[in-house]
Amino acid sequence: MTERVYRIALIPGDGVGKEVVPAARRVLAALPLRFDFVELDAGWEVFERTGTALPQRTASVIRSCDGAIFGATQSPSQKIEGYNSPILALRKQLDLYANLRPIVSMPVPGSRPGIDMLIVRENTECLYVRQERLEDNGNTAVAQRVITRRASERIARKAFMLARARRREREIGDWRLEIGGRDVNLQSPISNLPISSLVTIVHKANVLSLTDGLFREACLAVAREFPDVQVEEQIVDSMIYRMIREPERYDVIVAPNLYGDILSDAAAALVGGLGLAPSANAGDAFTLVEPVHGSAPDIAGKGIANPCATILAAAQLLESLGEGAAAQRIQRAVHRTLADNIWSADLGGQATTAEMTAAIIERLSD
Ligand code: NAI
Ligand code: MG
Repeated sequence: MTERVYRIALIPGDGVGKEVVPAARRVLAALPLRFDFVELDAGWEVFERTGTALPQRTASVIRSCDGAIFGATQSPSQKIEGYNSPILALRKQLDLYANLRPIVSMPVPGSRPGIDMLIVRENTECLYVRQERLEDNGNTAVAQRVITRRASERIARKAFMLARARRREREIGDWRLEIGGRDVNLQSPISNLPISSLVTIVHKANVLSLTDGLFREACLAVAREFPDVQVEEQIVDSMIYRMIREPERYDVIVAPNLYGDILSDAAAALVGGLGLAPSANAGDAFTLVEPVHGSAPDIAGKGIANPCATILAAAQLLESLGEGAAAQRIQRAVHRTLADNIWSADLGGQATTAEMTAAIIERLSD
């Protein structure tokens, strides 16, 4: 039997994207798996050169790949005619409806211990449909918020399936507990029994009873298909408060687009910051992973960007391809590197991008 070759699109983009995506490529290439990497353009630089931020070749070649790693693109702060964010376009074109952000304790001074949660953010609608208009001679601005039953049920199903998968992973032994991840014997918020998976539905249905009401109702309907997974709901403002006070009690959190965006940036601050925060944009047939951070123009070109967020994102991509063991090898190697005090400047250390990457590769076989 011939071994499977994974065809992976690499879209470095701008700024530190050009440093951290090659780092993730080196880590993948060091694994005992076969990859065919395809480099594709997107972003500000290619826009300045060619007049388009997402060249046709990128949009079409990516479809022939098994998954993609995106770095970051630089966006102009004012509206520039013809410039559209390539990541938003790709999410839409490939129907990447779920944004998955794992928030896991890290062995660095800026991280709190005992945290292992996954934020599942709806990625296609809510206020991000960007239907805004001015009325009243420009004195009133109105934004439309769209919530559909279809998108809400789809994201809820993803969240519950992932909650199940995470529990199975913990049952076969969780290495994350070694480094202070949360214990599986969480108390059920309803029954006081120990439970092993929990989905928290986030909304503001007390105020927005139609839009958030529909999201809540759709999620609760899906919950009935998963009697083995505990479910709870929480209003978004108190959710942020409680997540910061007691992050270790959460497992999977599902939220509409805007709340999920805000929650996940707040959560990243609990576990060591942007240099360590990965995310995946997942559809049913395709996953595009990226670091949460942007192009970091203040440090771009200096060789000091933290590659961990993108390397952990590459692990998420492997998970989506069914290569869970390889994904865990990467996650473990990143944790061991950080535990050995090999830190880039954003974490308070002096390691360069190349040094951190080499240290992670060295620890892949541990
Ligand atoms: P940013 O995430 O690029 O940088 C924020 C701060 O974090 C900076 O001090 C930066 O040096 C630091 N930082 C970010 N990544 C780092 C890394 N890997 N290692 C060490 N330090 C790191 O956010 P900012 O400054 O608001 O945006 C810069 C540009 O990036 C803008 O043009 C923005 O539009 C774009 N951006 C793109 C995103 C994407 O492509 N998905 C996401 C966020 C911002
Ligand atoms: Mg954000």
